[in-house]
Amino acid sequence: MTAAKSMPSALDFELVARCSTTKARAAILTLPHGPVQLPLFMPVATQASLKGLTPEQLEGTGCRLCLNNTYHLGLKPGQKTLEAVGGAHKLQGWKHNILTDSGGFQMVSLLKLANITEEGVRFLSPHDGTPMLLTPEHSIALQNTIGSDIIMQLDDVLVTTSPDTKRMREAMERSVRWLDRCIAAHKNPTTQNLFCIIQGGLDLEMREECCREMVARNTPGIAIGGLSGGEAKADYCRVVSTCTGLLPELKPRYVMGIGYPEDLVVSVALGADMFDCVWPTRTARFGDAITKYGVLKLRSASYCNDFGPVEEGCGCVCCRIGDGGLGVTRAFVHHLAAKETVGAHLLTIHNVWYQLALMRSVRQSIIEDRFPAFLKQFFADLHGGDK
Ligand code: GUN
Ligand code: ZN
Repeated sequence: MTAAKSMPSALDFELVARCSTTKARAAILTLPHGPVQLPLFMPVATQASLKGLTPEQLEGTGCRLCLNNTYHLGLKPGQKTLEAVGGAHKLQGWKHNILTDSGGFQMVSLLKLANITEEGVRFLSPHDGTPMLLTPEHSIALQNTIGSDIIMQLDDVLVTTSPDTKRMREAMERSVRWLDRCIAAHKNPTTQNLFCIIQGGLDLEMREECCREMVARNTPGIAIGGLSGGEAKADYCRVVSTCTGLLPELKPRYVMGIGYPEDLVVSVALGADMFDCVWPTRTARFGDAITKYGVLKLRSASYCNDFGPVEEGCGCVCCRIGDGGLGVTRAFVHHLAAKETVGAHLLTIHNVWYQLALMRSVRQSIIEDRFPAFLKQFFADLHGGDK
């Protein structure tokens, strides 16, 4: 495989600190819509909205970079409307950064009928069943219209646990070929950053080969894909560590689809910087609050007379008392759960805040070179703490 011409970038990556005993790093990533502090969790606003929140409320959680999905926005409102409105920032009234996933992964995971060929991903429209084809060129054209600050290559994704080595190799090599097609199709390299996605399943040699090919293409940032599919933690760690060991120091590293607090902190220790996951927002809609002592199932009857905040000491607008805070109690969320959607909205705000605050604390501990002690305390609280 020969590397395509390398591209300009629309970001600045400044390494601020490095942990002396793990591979953790703290950095500032400056994107077209402002700087973000790494390590970073990015909440998922699939349909150009974080379910239940206004853009102002999302901003209030401290979020400055959220995810949208090319596949969903391409179907609705569609490219014409996106073009007419001037992109996804204008569509959703969001002044800050947006990252779009390329769409293929969503089709493969959502529509079991997706069929992958060298041309692209073939699928039946979920609206009317007409056959459609998402090619690397089409995904990039959509993302160029969306105007997201970070755009992702179309990749050929398999679940990591797939035992089919031959198909895994095909997917990995095809993802490299598709990256070249994405690079050639990308019209706005000075205003939108294209990230490659490393594939190769749990096979470390395949991952190494993929890293070498992808790194040679010199994209502004690099993602590690094909994980979060139910693989064993040890396998996950081996893959992330192998990849980060081969990636350039001065580029952001994004592990796709990762979002449990314990996975975030471990992945940072392995040298990863950016993460996204629907879990914190989805679990909020089930009445689950993320806290340092674990997840609280606030629908449980045991909370009906619990008048403490969702999480003691949390700085989110729900938990905070005074200073404009709402002083929401566990009993109130319990009361609202399943009956009133505002219960889900409040927990969504809390959970997103929790994830962002966790990453801020991780970052501060890296800067102060006490990240290993932070990790130890984090797991002590999570496993031994008092809810
Ligand atoms: N989201 C979670 N994993 C992946 C992946 O491997 N590829 C893409 N495009 N999106 C993802
Ligand atoms: Zn809170």
